Amino acid sequence: MLKDLKVNKKMIKYWDYLREYKKLKREILNSVNKVFKSGTLFFGQELIKFEKNFCKFNNSKYGIGVGSGTDALFIALKALGVGIGDEVITVSNTAIPTVASIINTGAKVRFVDIGKDSLMDIIKIKDAINSKTKVIVPVHLFGQTCDMSGILSISKKYNLKIVEDCAQGCGALYKNQKAGSMGDIGCYSFYPTKILGAYGDGGFLTTNNKKLYEKMHRLRFFGIDTLNKNKKWSNKYYSIDHGINSRLDEIQASILNLKMKYINSFINKRRSIAQKYFMELKGPDIEMPIVNKKNFHVFHIFAVGHPRRELILKKMRSKNINLNIHYPYPIHMMKAYKKFTYGKCNYLFETEKKAKMIFSLPIYPSINNYEIESIIQNINKIVSKI
Ligand SMILES: Cc1ncc(COP(=O)(O)O)c(C=O)c1O
Repeated sequence: MLKDLKVNKKMIKYWDYLREYKKLKREILNSVNKVFKSGTLFFGQELIKFEKNFCKFNNSKYGIGVGSGTDALFIALKALGVGIGDEVITVSNTAIPTVASIINTGAKVRFVDIGKDSLMDIIKIKDAINSKTKVIVPVHLFGQTCDMSGILSISKKYNLKIVEDCAQGCGALYKNQKAGSMGDIGCYSFYPTKILGAYGDGGFLTTNNKKLYEKMHRLRFFGIDTLNKNKKWSNKYYSIDHGINSRLDEIQASILNLKMKYINSFINKRRSIAQKYFMELKGPDIEMPIVNKKNFHVFHIFAVGHPRRELILKKMRSKNINLNIHYPYPIHMMKAYKKFTYGKCNYLFETEKKAKMIFSLPIYPSINNYEIESIIQNINKIVSKI
């Protein structure tokens, strides 16, 4: 236990990549230097190696590196033929990119509410299905997977495709299966804060379907077929599909390759911090995260709830401790998205309730025990006086 919390004058950040950088500096600079010296900045050996590495980690047959998680979602939906006149089902308590990617295809979004675990409530999905529905996008929010058995059986019954948004769920397991290996396509983000973070933007697509793989491979680079090496050279300037430009560059791929060595230790560290929060956060009215039995949670985010959230955040800031909120505004309540969604969305009770009370505690692997203790003690103290 800490003797005097006032001694710690240093700011506790919600997230800080510089500590990781200090530890991995030599390895990172060596690999970046290797890329610079190789003469290849895009579509080289580092990307090939990473695509293999990540597929192995994820138990998926095929994998494609792309520029971001947002691009991965867009490419996945386009590969499944989603466009104007179609509907896609997802949740409203997610990061904006989940919904922005759907809207960018020309499709509309139908939201379903979440359960107490903050994940898509499978009981509600059937009400959102109609003849225009093409795809369900379950979001493995905070680091645990949705109820994939339920979602898979609904998709089978109604002939719908599944694009798993694994941006926050890299490495998570559902009944021992990796997030992103159960639906038609898995989409990942390597934004620096993520479980596997690059030092810039990055994203990834996984699938077990060869045809989808080939199509997504073309879509990431202007619809050009770069897989068939026997084609004449001029075909590298010929689009088969209308695609986008979304490259995972060699520098990011090389950093991701070296960080793959540590991914399981990063996840274990997050899980041990979560365990400490579970054991020691004791304030009245604090709602702790629900971890479903079939899940291996990777704790990208540790989101707790309290009816006096704003006050807690303010008081914690005065102690130099920065917390965060994921997310203060459900997507259906944002001005930008009202016109792209169906109905009044006045049925998203749990989504709106959670948005008012959740807040996130720091949980990155390089945060130290002293800081975790300080966060716990301060919250317990503040909450006991509210
Ligand atoms: C749930 C979710 N989906 C999609 C994305 C998009 O990923 P990126 O930031 O790499 O575009 C993110 C990350 O912000 C996310 O948290």
